[in-house]
Amino acid sequence: MRIVLVGPPGAGKGTQAIRLAGKLSVPHISTGDLFRANISRRTELGKLAKVCMDAGTLVPDELTIAMAKDRMRQPDAENGFLLDGFPRNVSQAEALDELLRAEAIKLDAVLGLEAPEGEVIKRIAGRRVCRSRSAHVFHVAYRPPKKQGVCDVCGGELYQRDDDSEETVRKRLAVYHTQTEPIIEYYKARGLAVTISSLGPVDEVTRRALEALKRREGDGR
Ligand code: AP5
Ligand code: ZN
Repeated sequence: MRIVLVGPPGAGKGTQAIRLAGKLSVPHISTGDLFRANISRRTELGKLAKVCMDAGTLVPDELTIAMAKDRMRQPDAENGFLLDGFPRNVSQAEALDELLRAEAIKLDAVLGLEAPEGEVIKRIAGRRVCRSRSAHVFHVAYRPPKKQGVCDVCGGELYQRDDDSEETVRKRLAVYHTQTEPIIEYYKARGLAVTISSLGPVDEVTRRALEALKRREGDGR
């Protein structure tokens, strides 16, 4: 399956993407994680991306699209992928369409995760992320690690993202409303969008997501 996950910062895209990718046996491709990996490797792309990420703005399309295309062309993505955080504006959605057309493949669904602003701010304020490449995600109240500051999965160090300050989160939310939300209409017009609430326990949201994808698969036939 080829799926796009869309939702405001803190809606739980990363949390759900890992679970859904595992259940659907497709790679989880997160442009945010790819940028963070570049930042920790101190690449030129990482340096450029960090300035935008710390400001809560989007990394320029040209860089983002090239990076995402490169990742989607890796052998593990040949039979499907779950995109998390890409596309993030209409021109990225058009670039993705172009890539899919060139490869003669199609998206199966665009899954929107909805959450009210107060909830996403609480989720982001308490988020702690593992420094390992897998970037395991925790929350001080909702998913606390067994040992403070240490990842339960791999023993990596947990840290708070630089762009998770309240001021930057407000900027990221504003960017989401003006630039990313329009892609939901873009995909609705193509009959691909399905939206679910991301409120409630993580397992419950995963169940809702799988049901919505199944319904969409039925409709798409
Ligand atoms: P990115 O890394 O994609 O961040 P984001 O979209 O802002 O989303 P988040 O990672 O903040 O949240 P999430 O929805 O994944 O939530 P999570 O699962 O962690 O992008 C960062 C930056 O990179 C952008 O601002 C931009 O600068 C740049 N960028 C990335 N892609 C780009 C693109 N395509 N174009 C241009 N620039 C790009 O969950 C949040 C917290 O809530 C966690 O602590 C989690 O444990 C908790 N939680 C999750 N689910 C639940 C639940 N059901 N109940 C309770 N708590 C929960
Ligand atoms: Zn870890």
